[in-house]
Amino acid sequence: MNNIKLNGDVYCPSEEIKKFAIVKNWDDLNEFVSKDYQKFWENEAKELHWFNSWDKVLDDSNKPFFKWFTGAQCNIAYNCLDVHTQTSRRNKLALMWEGEKGEFRSLSYFALHRETCKFANVLKSLGVKKGDRVTIYMGRIPELAIAMLACARIGAIHSVVYGGFTVEALHERLEDSHSKVLIVSDGAYQRGKIVPLKSIVDEALQRAASVESVLVVRRTGEPINMESGRDMWYHELMALPIANNQNSIEIMDSEDPLFILYTSGTTGKPKAILHTHGGYMVGTYTTLKYVFDIHEEDRYWCAADPGWITGHSYIVYGPLLNGTTSFMYEGAPTYPYPNRWWQMIEKYGINILYTAPTAIRGLMRFGEAWPNRHDLSSLRLLGSVGEPINPEAWKWYHRVIGKEKCPIMDTWWQTETGMFMITPMPCVPLKPGSGTKPFPGIQMDILDENGKTVKPNEEGKLVIKTPWPAMIRTIYNNPDRYVTQYWSKFPGVYFTGDSAKKDEDGYYWIIGRVDDVIKVSGYRLGTAEVESALVSHSAVAEAAAIGLPHDIKGNAIHTFVILRAGVNKNEKLIEELRQHVAHELGPIAKPESITFVDSLPKTRSGKIMRRVLKARALGEDPKDLSTLEE
Ligand code: PRX
Repeated sequence: MNNIKLNGDVYCPSEEIKKFAIVKNWDDLNEFVSKDYQKFWENEAKELHWFNSWDKVLDDSNKPFFKWFTGAQCNIAYNCLDVHTQTSRRNKLALMWEGEKGEFRSLSYFALHRETCKFANVLKSLGVKKGDRVTIYMGRIPELAIAMLACARIGAIHSVVYGGFTVEALHERLEDSHSKVLIVSDGAYQRGKIVPLKSIVDEALQRAASVESVLVVRRTGEPINMESGRDMWYHELMALPIANNQNSIEIMDSEDPLFILYTSGTTGKPKAILHTHGGYMVGTYTTLKYVFDIHEEDRYWCAADPGWITGHSYIVYGPLLNGTTSFMYEGAPTYPYPNRWWQMIEKYGINILYTAPTAIRGLMRFGEAWPNRHDLSSLRLLGSVGEPINPEAWKWYHRVIGKEKCPIMDTWWQTETGMFMITPMPCVPLKPGSGTKPFPGIQMDILDENGKTVKPNEEGKLVIKTPWPAMIRTIYNNPDRYVTQYWSKFPGVYFTGDSAKKDEDGYYWIIGRVDDVIKVSGYRLGTAEVESALVSHSAVAEAAAIGLPHDIKGNAIHTFVILRAGVNKNEKLIEELRQHVAHELGPIAKPESITFVDSLPKTRSGKIMRRVLKARALGEDPKDLSTLEE
């Protein structure tokens, strides 16, 4: 990729970037890794701490239930914290945080280790044991990372629920994971307002029975309900003698679960993607190091939410494994003014900014004057994730934010992959809108319906052909669904759910989801979830949801609703239904439009044909209608 002549709009990295980069020649690395990818991952694994080494790097004897570093023992939290406290990184900042109201907090590796050990001991004293599930539901505050790491430390499986979700989404995830302990903040600041997380919890817990203890972090100080015998303040527990920083590390098998994270799939309820200590650790450590080119002195900012996989892998685990300084910001990018992000980059000297196309498009519409007021010269690399980035937004990001000197790492990956899969590195020539090529050692392909590789520039289904260390191990409590969802469409290969093209230079271009997943502002939502939220309202008999293009959000949710007999159609009801979805699922799921209809297009077996609704809304030809009922 470094030397050949490429077609189209190409942006080559400067000599300065190449000279500084850890990987100076992508082709050399790729050639080396492709010869023996297991050896490559093994070498990377050796850079981390293991209590016991592995017998095998990859065990593929029970496909598609792959295992990595079998026989080895480790703990990801030990590698994130303890390892660094034993070196000169002890007093280096691990986490820098700014609140939406402007407060600043920082934790050195020493301090983050101390807080994590203390909280791990609190959890243990509450009876949390290895393998127990703990749900975490908070705004973007340091305690969220502390809670995740404390769980990992004692071998509990964390299940982080995005703070933008509400009652039913939380309830469903609590129920499915059977969490006994829930950690929440009293509220979260968003655009100057308070999201009442604790009262959402109170309502969800009226529907869920498994939770025995609720630990509440005080963030806003607003009055909340504390239920005696169930609810406890985090700061009070952390002041007890039991909250000491004595070593609490649990020695884990490489394949022991680290976390589950719910994500939307093709059908039905969200599924719990399971990741493990060993492979996930090696995958996130390695990919972050090479792609974002982590140097000792870097200040790195991933502006995602820890409640999604990007935050798990690249705010918490990847950066800490690399011993870097990770910055976290609590609030909205435009609060109180559209220069908030640029102000913080200048103030803290951020070197790497990793965000989503929706945020870039959202900030772009306020014009260049806002970023131009700030000194952004500390930036060296930029990143993008979550959905295809349109070339216009890419170019704005590159020119206005990166001053034409910062390469953009457009990283394609998924909750299931755990780590970057298609991504450039700083030394790689870029084409706006393409994530370039798969990470070295990862074999991917684009197939037609019959499983044959499509020709260059032809659209097809994106698949992964080789196992990788941070891969999903299973769907928690549902191994059959793991097999049918990912490994059945094309036998022997992992189907991503995306469609894509590959150009004549081998660069990948993602087109979008081919299933019933809608990407709204980069967040992944299922049509089924929105539909069940609508149907849970007493006025609704049936509902269908589709995604349609939106300038800022990428896609917006549009819905079609059949009302129950006797219910009057009116504007007030539309607003009531929109609010109902926001209350049950979360504000991100609030439909852009609700259209009342008398019937929905269905197959003869009764499935809603969303593609017909979509084609109609876009004024396109719905194509094959042979399965349509009427
Ligand atoms: O459709 C792809 C899109 O996001 C999906 C995965 O969503 P999720 O599991 O929520 O993880 C998002 C963050 C890793 C993919 O199937 N997607 C993700 N990154 C990109 C992307 N589409 C295009 N370009 C990307 N860089």
